Amino acid sequence: MPAISPPWERLFQRTSRIRRSDLKIRLACCWTRTYRHSASSSEFRHGKAKSIVTIGTATTPDEAAALQEAGVDAIAASGFEAGGHRGSFLRAAEDSLTGTFSLVPQITDMVNVPVIAAGGIADARGVIAALALGAEAVQMGTAFLACEESGAILLLRQALRGKKAGHTALTKAFTGRLARGIHNRLLEELNQEGTAILPYPLQRRLVRNLAIPAEAAGRSDLLPLWAGQSANLSTCTDVLAFLTSLVEEVSKIAGPVIEWTANRRQRHSNS
Ligand SMILES: Cc1cc2nc3c(=O)[nH]c(=O)nc-3n(C[C@H](O)[C@H](O)[C@H](O)COP(=O)(O)O)c2cc1C
Repeated sequence: MPAISPPWERLFQRTSRIRRSDLKIRLACCWTRTYRHSASSSEFRHGKAKSIVTIGTATTPDEAAALQEAGVDAIAASGFEAGGHRGSFLRAAEDSLTGTFSLVPQITDMVNVPVIAAGGIADARGVIAALALGAEAVQMGTAFLACEESGAILLLRQALRGKKAGHTALTKAFTGRLARGIHNRLLEELNQEGTAILPYPLQRRLVRNLAIPAEAAGRSDLLPLWAGQSANLSTCTDVLAFLTSLVEEVSKIAGPVIEWTANRRQRHSNS
């Protein structure tokens, strides 16, 4: 593993105190609760009071500033390349469409908690790029969905490894909230102008009623195929092999990149 900078070291120590038995490797695993939970919610305050490591998702620099002010331990900067939903909370999701390459450096320049880059990162090149942009970790979703171990249904895993995975789009059709998936018949037909979409979570329930028979009939054209823009880069079949090669590749070059970024951050904070 590349060297871990001091803020992460503290974060990992706290994380491993909480879930020591779960941590076989030093990876911070988190799942963000997007809906109706904000940095001011009682759930957040309860977590903070119990010293639970809290990571907020920002899709704009303004959201990152709000999360830092609220006292989160780290911020996931989630670019619009990401698969599935993203946690926009200050503006509408449709109005918070900044890409990872632009979002991460804007946020790292602004906050003093560790930043996790998310969205479109699928291999060692993406990880190194994120580190160079000032992120101290990455959050990868789609790349892991394609792995045998992911729990995603077979049709989705096959679609993620198929040629059409390179064509994704944003839609409210899957759940009623903006999400990214592989362009297929379901997405295209429900995205047509004038098609009524129910509010979340009713639309999710409606689509689920279609997805169950569609899956049974092997019809991936009628399934929500959650995926980010880098789905085409997914090569994972075995998660351990994927992670091992990712860590090996990143380790070869990460040291100098992390050092350069840390020096740059120091100069930036002194100026
Ligand atoms: C199927 C799926 C569902 C997701 N749902 C949520 C969600 O509810 N809330 C959230 O903040 N992020 C959600 N995400 C985004 C992930 O947490 C992560 O940021 C994203 O997958 C990273 O981008 P990538 O998919 O390009 O790797 C979801 C991602 C996927 C693939």
